[in-house]
Amino acid sequence: MRENYLLHKLHSLTGIIPVGFYLCQHLTLNSFALAGPKAYDGVIHFFEGLPPQLLYALKYGVVWLPLIFHAVYGVIIATRADSNYSKAAYKFRENRYYVLQRWSGIVAFLFLVYHMTSTSIAASIKGVESTILYDNWAEKLSGGIGPIQIPFLVFAIYVVGLVASTYHFSYGIWNFCIRWGITISESAQNATAKVAQVAFVGLTALGILSLVGFFWSPLEKKGAPEGAEVRISTPITVAQR
Ligand code: HEM
Repeated sequence: MRENYLLHKLHSLTGIIPVGFYLCQHLTLNSFALAGPKAYDGVIHFFEGLPPQLLYALKYGVVWLPLIFHAVYGVIIATRADSNYSKAAYKFRENRYYVLQRWSGIVAFLFLVYHMTSTSIAASIKGVESTILYDNWAEKLSGGIGPIQIPFLVFAIYVVGLVASTYHFSYGIWNFCIRWGITISESAQNATAKVAQVAFVGLTALGILSLVGFFWSPLEKKGAPEGAEVRISTPITVAQR
């Protein structure tokens, strides 16, 4: 298939907006797990409570459609790409980024097929209560998949999928700036490489903290015990009477 200039640019753009933007907000909202079950489940119920038309427009129009286009066109580019990294002599930084970006894209793609099937699709069939609430995550992450019951296998899969996704997006920022003519000089490209490194470390840390949050919630507000009545008594002053 011949290179299509417009589709390639659209592919680059969708990787940042809306897909990359979604990744940032998704990991931020997931980190509410650090504040305990009430905070995390509150986020899930907030989205559940949106008017269905708005929810479906956001879910399918803003997330799924651009993501599917980005993934499918990305696979086309990756299978057509002729990277010379493995062919010895040209081990330049750019070639290394190029190879890692393609491999991370393929791993992220496989992870997303599993992730979206076991969250979004499972929740729309069985409901959120048995699929994507805090307690479901704690149970799911600490177990295995199907017949492979290795403790914390799912947690390990999430770490691999997360790192692939954050790497792919972060170095996508560097790529995007070159493709759109934003960084032309070498020093500008070096500067965005640093931004990409910071984004990679920051987003990966946020994602790993979110996963840890299903087992340890240091930010949980310790209020009155469940079912306890809270009485607020205001002394009535002479002036109020
Ligand atoms: C930190 C670990 C993660 C957790 C706890 C998590 C949690 C969730 C949950 C609960 C849903 C279902 C939302 C709903 O239907 O209401 C979901 C969907 C989704 N997640 Fe994740 N996620 C994680 C990591 C990731 C990563 C690394 C990506 C990479 C891009 C990702 C991309 C998506 C996408 C595209 C959807 C479908 C959006 C939708 O249908 O609403 N997630 N995730």
